[in-house]
Amino acid sequence: MTATADAPLAGAAAPTPADPTVVDLSAPAEFVPEPPHRVWAALRELPGLHWQDRPDAPGFHSVVRHDHTRTVLRDVATYSSEWGMTLDSTLGTRDPAAGLMIELTDKPRHARLRKLVTAAITPQFVQSLTPVIQGHAARLAEAAVRQEGPVDAVTALTAPMPRLTIGSILGIPVEDQERVAAMASRAITGTEAAGAATPTLAERRRCSETGNNDLLMYFVEIIEGEPHRLDPGGMVRRLMDIELDGERLTSDEVLLNCLNLAIGGYETTKNAVASGLYRLAGLPGAWQWLREDHDRVPAMIEEMLRFDTPAMHLIRTVTRPTVLGGTELKEGDTVCVWLSAANRDPAVFEAPDEFRIDRDPNNHLAFTIGPHFCLGAVLARLEMRSLFTELLTRVESLEALSAPVRRPSNFIAGIDRLDLLLHTA
Ligand code: HEM
Repeated sequence: MTATADAPLAGAAAPTPADPTVVDLSAPAEFVPEPPHRVWAALRELPGLHWQDRPDAPGFHSVVRHDHTRTVLRDVATYSSEWGMTLDSTLGTRDPAAGLMIELTDKPRHARLRKLVTAAITPQFVQSLTPVIQGHAARLAEAAVRQEGPVDAVTALTAPMPRLTIGSILGIPVEDQERVAAMASRAITGTEAAGAATPTLAERRRCSETGNNDLLMYFVEIIEGEPHRLDPGGMVRRLMDIELDGERLTSDEVLLNCLNLAIGGYETTKNAVASGLYRLAGLPGAWQWLREDHDRVPAMIEEMLRFDTPAMHLIRTVTRPTVLGGTELKEGDTVCVWLSAANRDPAVFEAPDEFRIDRDPNNHLAFTIGPHFCLGAVLARLEMRSLFTELLTRVESLEALSAPVRRPSNFIAGIDRLDLLLHTA
């Protein structure tokens, strides 16, 4: 069950640039119609880490190998998360949410936050929501197959699935969920929607800031003004109430970690499903093969996460002199770990540019590795498995009518529109 990366993407593959070192890897335009895999592959062959200057933001070293990526993500004492975690948000100063928001916090404070947030999002809690998530998946799949003619998979399936799930998990009212998802999307992508001209860094920063501030205000208002509207069993209430070994989250920590959950869980899952549907539609026989045995779905999901890694990079800031891949790094240097590149490293993955839905082993880093390993991985896998299972049950074959409309972003591998024909019996 394989397909080359280019097969389902007729005409989309960019040629290898004559000089890969001059490509601006922070420019969203370089990520459409496809992320710059050929540039990353060329950089992987060069000695040392590639350095890129930026006129209006700190320059950065690019990490493109799987082993270097693992080193950076595990060595949290040398590579800090507190100075921003994306290319667009990194300013060369500590992030104001550092020490409070789990993703932007180093040890030892990270361990405390992680213990408390994990105690609120236990596997048992996620397990208890399984019927709710499966119910969302079944209703969405049923409504999609009932549509006449082409279906925009983003509107019908991939956007509502995480929106409903995150809404249920957080325990926020149904009527607020669309608004919250839109704020989270703005915050993480820094763009309004696809189709518009590619925004500048200043515009992206403004858009992200608006999204973050609006989300923060939303949680302040509901927690302080209307707590009765929150589901007592949801994550917002659980974060407010959690107490472990006499420790509780402060009100700022509750707010910022609600934000982290909303932002972390929406665009990532949405785009993993959208890319996955598109790749499956381009892989002859794959849908039928999966229909024959739904136990094949989990391996397929891991391959989707590897092949179209939803969060394409992470930023770390060097805290003490070190050497990585032969390059000397000094305190304060910005390091950009390209998860999408690590997930196509031929030293780890056989035929990395082939989409193999039965790939085994599949040591992808889409959820990262080390102390910041994604807290929503179990939930994301459950959402994806539920939705694909419900679709496989109802849809005989899948046809993509055109290439997806991609959102220009250097961070989120985003799809804003995907027209499919869902053929039923
Ligand atoms: C396919 C879906 C997802 C992907 C690809 C993904 C990816 C990631 C990545 C790459 C990180 C590491 C960030 C870093 O090290 O700086 C992360 C952390 C995190 N994710 Fe996810 N995520 C997904 C879904 C979710 C969901 C559904 C939730 C929650 C509802 C979630 C919540 C979090 C949280 C809270 C962290 C911070 C963990 C920490 O810093 O200790 N994620 N995720």
